[in-house]
Amino acid sequence: MVAPSVAQARRVAAALLDWYRTEARPLKIRERRDAYAVLVVEVMAQQTQISRVDQLAQRFLERFPTLDALAAAERAEVIDAWRGLGYNRRAVALHDAAQQAVAGGGLPSTHEALMELPGIGPYTARAVAAITAGGRSIPVDVNIARIVQRLIGAVPPLRPRELQIAADAFGDVLEPGLAGTWAQAAMDLAARVCRRTAPDCAACPLKKSCQSAGETFAAPARRTAATPFPATRRWLRGRILDELRDAGPAGVSITGARGVHEKAAVELALEQLVRDGLAEQLGSRRYRLPRAALKS
Ligand code: ADE
Repeated sequence: MVAPSVAQARRVAAALLDWYRTEARPLKIRERRDAYAVLVVEVMAQQTQISRVDQLAQRFLERFPTLDALAAAERAEVIDAWRGLGYNRRAVALHDAAQQAVAGGGLPSTHEALMELPGIGPYTARAVAAITAGGRSIPVDVNIARIVQRLIGAVPPLRPRELQIAADAFGDVLEPGLAGTWAQAAMDLAARVCRRTAPDCAACPLKKSCQSAGETFAAPARRTAATPFPATRRWLRGRILDELRDAGPAGVSITGARGVHEKAAVELALEQLVRDGLAEQLGSRRYRLPRAALKS
């Protein structure tokens, strides 16, 4: 098993938390510490850049200031408020999670219980528990995985279970209540210093405790040429959803090609959107964001 020694974990904790006191990124999202707001932010941050989340989360939280407000909203409103964030199925899952949590008396405080909610995986559950409820398990996203693996000199990729054990060994030496701060500090270090390629080891507060200090990391070769975004089905679904957002409750007739996507591809995308709970069909070609009675 690859894991840090207690001595290494202690040195890392001291240096990382010290660095974070002066170098934390100035994110507005960190001003709200309640579990609901942190959940919203962490779900958004899974697949959207944190600078963009920082802008768009404010708008979402103004529209749905509490868990109860989100749970009581119509599906269409939630999808509408997700505009600009992409990966829209997350909005449906977050809405489902809010409804399930309210039915159960509120958001639970442990990561194990949070993971029972729809769409909430190990990272999100641990991030919410650590940042808001004194959870001691470190949330591992790709950035924290990179830092942990480099610190212990592991040859990636470690399996998720091994990574979690190694990350938690860094957390075990912390005073209670500091795992969330450690994790957010590590995320900022990953963004600013311990970058995926060309890490700035000279400027790193952890260089004396890192098994990989001074190593260079080449960008992994792409196996296939990247598809231009407007040629992807994800672009097409996002484009159609924006049309539905603009249309409002009356809906809009959607026919014909969109960009490079021919009519049949548009029809298929609409079918998927309906199946995913992101669209509702009104007539043969007419669609809107789902306003049907809420699912129980
Ligand atoms: N990425 C995901 N969650 C984050 C957070 N709380 N702070 C900074 N970056 C993040």
